[in-house]
Amino acid sequence: MKKRIGILTSGGDCAGLNAVISSVVQAASQKGWEVLGIHNGTDGITETPHSYEELTVHNFSDSPWPRLSGSYLGSLNKGVKMESLEAMSKKFAQGIKDLKLDAVVVVGGDGSMNIVSNYCKGLDVQVIGIPKTIDNDTPVTEFSVGFQTAVQVCTKAVDDLFLTARSHNRAIIMEVMGRDAGHLAMHSALAGAADVCLVPEIPYTIDGIINKLKAVKASGRNNAIIVVSEGIKTENGEHMSNKKNLVGEAVYGGISQYLTDEISSRYNEFQIRSTTLGHIQRSGTPVAFDRLLAYVYGAKAVELLEKGVNRHMVIWKAGHVESASFDDIVKEGTTKLNTHSDYVKAAQALGMYIGECK
Ligand code: F6P
Repeated sequence: MKKRIGILTSGGDCAGLNAVISSVVQAASQKGWEVLGIHNGTDGITETPHSYEELTVHNFSDSPWPRLSGSYLGSLNKGVKMESLEAMSKKFAQGIKDLKLDAVVVVGGDGSMNIVSNYCKGLDVQVIGIPKTIDNDTPVTEFSVGFQTAVQVCTKAVDDLFLTARSHNRAIIMEVMGRDAGHLAMHSALAGAADVCLVPEIPYTIDGIINKLKAVKASGRNNAIIVVSEGIKTENGEHMSNKKNLVGEAVYGGISQYLTDEISSRYNEFQIRSTTLGHIQRSGTPVAFDRLLAYVYGAKAVELLEKGVNRHMVIWKAGHVESASFDDIVKEGTTKLNTHSDYVKAAQALGMYIGECK
């Protein structure tokens, strides 16, 4: 049966979103289905006039967009004050009716899946999710679109910082995103052969960092790289900032300056400098793996829609693409870095200081 699908991107953007959109457009058009690209997350459906455009292979997939980062459709990140769930669900239901949608594909993290799945409860519309986030913390799936490109951006930054650190006999602290999960920090620290990596999942001490810097010095090397997750706390267990976004979630940033001050006040054999990479981590040319994931996930989403599956998210599990119900995704909660993973073990085996890991 011919379907009319709406596709939207929700939450912080990342590389690979446009390839996901293109994949859904291509797979759907093979079946003779229509695809509406919804602008600015759910806003394009809930706000009036509704904001959307028809996407075809010709006007979208054949354009340069699938090769680029950002979201062609625009996205909606937390920090936007929303009305009550009841009021938003009502608007969403009206939008689905006005746009005559049979299905919605949500490209987002677990938060977005949860929100849209709640809006759709009781509606005669299918919903399929596709996971994306540079944090790689979407539950159940091993990979979310955008993570590998962010790792690439951060690894390149480690390489670049190494060169300037080497020129000036410095230790440079690099703060990366990831919220409360250390995946991005650990993967890029390992790929970039950093000396120290601090993640929210493992407590650390300033003395532990200093001991590592001393060991680096003693080995005859005059530079060091320290990668830190934005979500780590101070040595006393406090978050640096108490800033909150409009939906009450903590806004991170600033821990690298704290570490710079603390280390410099106790140890002066290296000059310490810090860099916060910021939103550059969400951009960059999507690497091949993110584009592969995007195409595989998009095709799977269309297959699930054809089979009549509802309220499921596509997932990557042990080399296979499967799906899991929204209920299971939401129940699971965000995925933290496994402190017994092979990445962590390798970091330890290489002598990286990763905190007081048991
Ligand atoms: O969740 C993705 C993410 O990039 C986090 O790593 C980061 O903390 C946050 O979004 C930043 O959000 P904003 O775009 O609101 O600054």
